[in-house]
Amino acid sequence: MIIEELRVINFRNYKDIHLKFHPRLNIFVGNNAQGKTNLLEAIYLCAVGRSFRTNRDNEMINIEKQQAYVRVKLKKKYGDVDIEIRLSSGHGKDAKVNNICLTKIGELLGNLNVVLFSPEDLKLIKGGPGERRKFMDREISQIFTRYYYILGQYNKILRHRNRLLKDSRKRNLDLEVWNEQLAMTGAWIIFYRRNFIKRINLLARLMHRKVTGSAETLEIIYDSDVEVEDNDRIDQIKGNMLKKLENSINTDKKRGLTTTGPHRDDIILMINGLNAKNYGSQGQQRTVVLSLKLAEIELIKGEVGEYPVLLLDDVMSELDSERQNYLISNLKNVQTFITTAITEHIKEMGWKDKVIFNISKGQIG
Ligand SMILES: Nc1ncnc2c1ncn2[C@@H]1O[C@H](COP(=O)(O)OP(=O)(O)OP(=O)(O)O)[C@@H](O)[C@H]1O
Ligand SMILES: [Mg+2]
Repeated sequence: MIIEELRVINFRNYKDIHLKFHPRLNIFVGNNAQGKTNLLEAIYLCAVGRSFRTNRDNEMINIEKQQAYVRVKLKKKYGDVDIEIRLSSGHGKDAKVNNICLTKIGELLGNLNVVLFSPEDLKLIKGGPGERRKFMDREISQIFTRYYYILGQYNKILRHRNRLLKDSRKRNLDLEVWNEQLAMTGAWIIFYRRNFIKRINLLARLMHRKVTGSAETLEIIYDSDVEVEDNDRIDQIKGNMLKKLENSINTDKKRGLTTTGPHRDDIILMINGLNAKNYGSQGQQRTVVLSLKLAEIELIKGEVGEYPVLLLDDVMSELDSERQNYLISNLKNVQTFITTAITEHIKEMGWKDKVIFNISKGQIG
């Protein structure tokens, strides 16, 4: 898929801009704090319905305004798609796809697929399990919209169960119905996540071997206390989760929260048999993220039938030239947006097929 145009009004430090993009490579160049990442954020918003930098939508509205508007025109294999988002201060957001209002922001998913790679992604390795769950949830939701809804249901049931556990410390409590519902939705989450990790593992391992010249083997493992023999059997996953919930009931009551289930799961990333989080060098950790991102691109291509759009925020400068070249040569069919503050990098990249946008104080030169 290709983003042909972007319109942005009162979004962050932009007043009103209209950009036409190159189908291959678009580079946003400028000093710090000029608005390069803001443009990636606007594109990301149209893909996922939220920012990758903040949970507060209001921050994206220009501080002097009450409303912001972002629109992208997409060219896809089976036709053109027009996505519009309006953010209103204190009134949430509205989205339209091909001029039809969406009733829920979740309906946006699956129209524009993006893969974002930013320095923040190192959290995926260095951060806590929550970061890695967020990664899985975001990526699976983009491909399977059903997952997004199941996850929403699961979290709702979980919150309810936790509230009951907190209130119930004094009296007797029957959790049977809640366990059943939590195990049902939880089983689907585990099912989707295990499948996702299985596939991303194969792809990322291949990418990682190529990027490191076969020096390193990457392995990605889904780490859950709900074990399953056959991940295609939802009834089996559900049964095992139900058992776990029943076994941990006393601990749960004591602690006033649910101590087992996919909301506690994690991913383990291993390089040559060692956990990258504890043993990986800075460069190795970055390379793992690169391999993961390249794998994600291929996974989306396989599932959706066309390549996603790639957003690279400030990452070129962090990769050595060998890795930069690998990235470039691997992405011939992927429309890519790059931000950089260093003009020399563009020359070094040596890509011919590109358009450069010079960005200064929310103006495009
Ligand atoms: N809601 C807003 N209203 C107005 N200006 C904003 C708003 N949010 C952010 N900005 C401005 O946008 C600028 C930052 O933009 P952005 O993050 O895109 O910079 P950048 O060009 O990517 O910089 P760097 O190279 O440092 O990453 C800052 O100057 C900030 O003050
Ligand atoms: Mg930036």
